[in-house]
Amino acid sequence: MLEKFKEYLTKKKSPYVANIAQDLGIEEYQVYGLVELLKREGYLFDIANNQVVKTKPIKENDIYRIPNNLDHIKLLLISDTHLANKYDRLDILRYLYEKASDNGTQYVLHSGDLTDGFKRDEQVYQLKEASYTGQRDYVVDKYPHSEIPTYLISGNHDLWWYKKCGADICKDVSNHREDIHYLGSDCEDLQIGKLKLRLFHGIGGSSYAKSYKLQKYLDSIPLEERPHILQTGHIHQAFYMKQGKTHCFQTSCLQDMTPYERSNGFSNDKSCWWVDVTMDNRGNPVEIKQELETFGKKLKR
Ligand SMILES: [Fe+2]
Repeated sequence: MLEKFKEYLTKKKSPYVANIAQDLGIEEYQVYGLVELLKREGYLFDIANNQVVKTKPIKENDIYRIPNNLDHIKLLLISDTHLANKYDRLDILRYLYEKASDNGTQYVLHSGDLTDGFKRDEQVYQLKEASYTGQRDYVVDKYPHSEIPTYLISGNHDLWWYKKCGADICKDVSNHREDIHYLGSDCEDLQIGKLKLRLFHGIGGSSYAKSYKLQKYLDSIPLEERPHILQTGHIHQAFYMKQGKTHCFQTSCLQDMTPYERSNGFSNDKSCWWVDVTMDNRGNPVEIKQELETFGKKLKR
């Protein structure tokens, strides 16, 4: 019945408890029970005014918390999509969300630079959309729509808009898309059941070694604060390491190399991390496995 209920909600037939009960051939109190079961699996639903409604993640003590009673969860880690740049790769994003839907991924995590923003004068020639509203609408319209929730922080490119005029483009996008949840700018903590995650973007240029910034950042986190999964963006190069209990994923980009990157000799990997987490019978994460998927030339323009 739970799977049938999930399918019903996906089709958005009716939000009213009475209608749902009638359509599914169950009692109204059973709809309340099904919503409670969904909440325990981490789905953001609740009941208000006799309707099943979507909710936002709750932040307590600076941590966004999502319930989880599953013994296994699958994550897709992506970053630096730089949407609205002529070199963005919406084709890869569409492919990834389709794959995530097929392979049972529960959450997509995006560690910043959702948009390309607008800072440098010559950048205007590399943009599909140069205005704030143009980039916001581009993302709201074209970012793959999915039943899988995406949790997002903003990166330095997104924050150029904030520095210019106080507009938070990731928050704005999230307000227009119920499947995209904005956590905050640059660094935020998320907890799925007992699994602790941190999303971090960062600022500044590249370093000689692609691991350097990630290692330095991890060193800056007090031991007691360290998450099970640290996901970083900004560097556009993929890298993994494990230190103590922390699995560190430097997530590269989903954008082709731009003339700016080529002129500056910056690296540009296109990839994502697929991460499987297994919990013990108390919900503690006991095994974290990862797989890097890389991408080459355009699938289609
Ligand atoms: Fe970036």
